[in-house]
Amino acid sequence: MLSSSFTLSKDACQEKDEQLSSSFSLTLNSPSKINLFFRILSKRPDGYHEIASLYQAIALYDQITFSSSDAQSFSCSDPSLSTDDSNLCVKAFKLFQKKTALTPSISIHLDKKVPMQAGLGGGSANAATVLYGLNKLMGQPLSIAELSTLSAELGSDVPFFFSKGTAFCRGRGENLTDVNFTPQIGNITIVKPKQGLSTPLVYKACDPSSFPSRDPLASLALFQQGSYEFYNDLEIPSFLLLPSLKELKGLLESAGFTTVLMCGSGTAFFCLGDADLPSLHDCFVQRMQTAGRSEMGWYE
Ligand code: C5P
Repeated sequence: MLSSSFTLSKDACQEKDEQLSSSFSLTLNSPSKINLFFRILSKRPDGYHEIASLYQAIALYDQITFSSSDAQSFSCSDPSLSTDDSNLCVKAFKLFQKKTALTPSISIHLDKKVPMQAGLGGGSANAATVLYGLNKLMGQPLSIAELSTLSAELGSDVPFFFSKGTAFCRGRGENLTDVNFTPQIGNITIVKPKQGLSTPLVYKACDPSSFPSRDPLASLALFQQGSYEFYNDLEIPSFLLLPSLKELKGLLESAGFTTVLMCGSGTAFFCLGDADLPSLHDCFVQRMQTAGRSEMGWYE
């Protein structure tokens, strides 16, 4: 198990030093997401892309444990994941301290199960879960709305995890509208090949003018009516970067799934319907359902 300690800057250390009175341990699920439709509309002057997407949380979870400790620390079950300041959990911890001027004596452990470089938003959910957990343990100095706004500083997908679990996301992804329906999509099978793709690389390879000109508001209206249209513009650049993805999609479709769509920037696919899985070499495969967040709580 990797473990690293981190400390605040001198200025921040002069802020209120908040110690929790008794020993405790809190474990929270850190979910993941799929995109039921995903439009890339344009490239923005700031380098990001303007998107419009229906995000859905799914019950594929990491676990994050917060424990009372003499010193702040972060550790992770996966040795391939860096535990230094570049880790989104550490960034979230530091951002919480900066925003609240609290210095919680808490150690955080991440038990990583959600595949990385998959387009499942696992790292973004980790950041959201750390913000939520610290806020809960420190007596809720911030509201869910404030946590959501703050979390956009950590990444475009992070605010989504403060929604109820289904949200229409625009802007670079951080501008979200809760929707008043839960898509009835049944069992979801996630299939992720060994190879991953980096999100910036996929966005760099995409040409928004080449994508079919679907209207995302019309897609949203269809979902509201229970008539589902699944698509992901990012399949085009991702399949160009990694042609084996197209083959994997074809294999899963011919196995009998009714829908097979890439998650975010890939390389995982979500499959709907029931099918006998073909033999898949070196793939992560897991079956689950959608997930949601209760009014004031987290994902259970
Ligand atoms: O916001 P986040 O840090 O997760 O984004 C990672 C990278 O993905 C960005 O630096 C950018 O290259 C790309 N991106 C984008 N348009 C978006 C979201 C992400 O181009 N809407």
